[in-house]
Amino acid sequence: MGRLWHTTNIYMHSPIHEYAEKLTSLLPDPLKVIYLTNSGSEANDLAMLMARVYTGNFDVITFRGGYHGASPYAMGLTSMAAYKYPIATGIGCHTTMCPDVFRGPWGGSGCRDSPVQTIRECNCSPDCCQANDMYVQQLKEVLDTSVSQQIAGFFAEPIQGIGGVVQYPKGFLKEAYKLVRERGGVCIADETIEEDGLQQNSTQVGTYLLTELAKLRDKFGIIGDIRGKGLLIGVEMVKDKVSREPLPGVEMNEIFEDCKDMGLLIGKGGVYGQMSRIKPPMCITKDDADFALAVFGLAIQRQMARRL
Ligand SMILES: Cc1ncc(COP(=O)(O)O)c(C=O)c1O
Repeated sequence: MGRLWHTTNIYMHSPIHEYAEKLTSLLPDPLKVIYLTNSGSEANDLAMLMARVYTGNFDVITFRGGYHGASPYAMGLTSMAAYKYPIATGIGCHTTMCPDVFRGPWGGSGCRDSPVQTIRECNCSPDCCQANDMYVQQLKEVLDTSVSQQIAGFFAEPIQGIGGVVQYPKGFLKEAYKLVRERGGVCIADETIEEDGLQQNSTQVGTYLLTELAKLRDKFGIIGDIRGKGLLIGVEMVKDKVSREPLPGVEMNEIFEDCKDMGLLIGKGGVYGQMSRIKPPMCITKDDADFALAVFGLAIQRQMARRL
């Protein structure tokens, strides 16, 4: 607070350059240009503008269930009813089906690049993923029917956060990016960059959390799915594992309140409010993870007892 960091882009000074250099060192080539903005919404506003000006095209595609911000321009990219208002936004913005291998029409037990898979069955041979092919087909249909021949771009979170920590079939984004580029569009990954050094901790503690939460899923009927990567983890709560219907809001709130009273704050999310979103600070330790697992496990156990 004692140092001047930023007044306006007119007066450039060294901390901004140092920060930009540090940021680019985390990005793969050729991503070496940084433009700093004040918020995620503003970043996406700018990305949409740049995609349109750069390509000379207008249409953009996003996933249903995606959250990309709430500014009037970014609201058009967002596809969650809770964040939409009856105003004119989103001209030229179109959506495609989110490749959700747990809740969506297609998905199996081998779709994800993860140690934890869905509880759904799978008939695919090791070198193919039928669910992925079906979701790619959905995007092809949007490209063939909803947009003009040439498009400006495709926005996707690498893992869909607020929409429910949705982890797509492995290889989906690669295929989607190819289709989008063939139609003249640019591909925009909407995500916050992990800090150096903490990436390793995220992988270690995050993978531990994922696999331990999967054990809770196998134990309790109302935990339908565990997914995510690093320290962005989703726990999808269901009425039961056969119907996979979302756990009602009243029950979700009871679990959240119970966790809070025991000292654990968990995020909410999902198109139906059925997700517990775990996204702790990246410096958390294995002991912190064990505490969270114990509290969450107890809250679920109590909820199961309430349902009897
Ligand atoms: C993926 C993603 N994009 C954009 C935003 C919007 O960011 P902001 O709230 O800073 O405008 C968010 C906010 O949570 C987000 O999760």
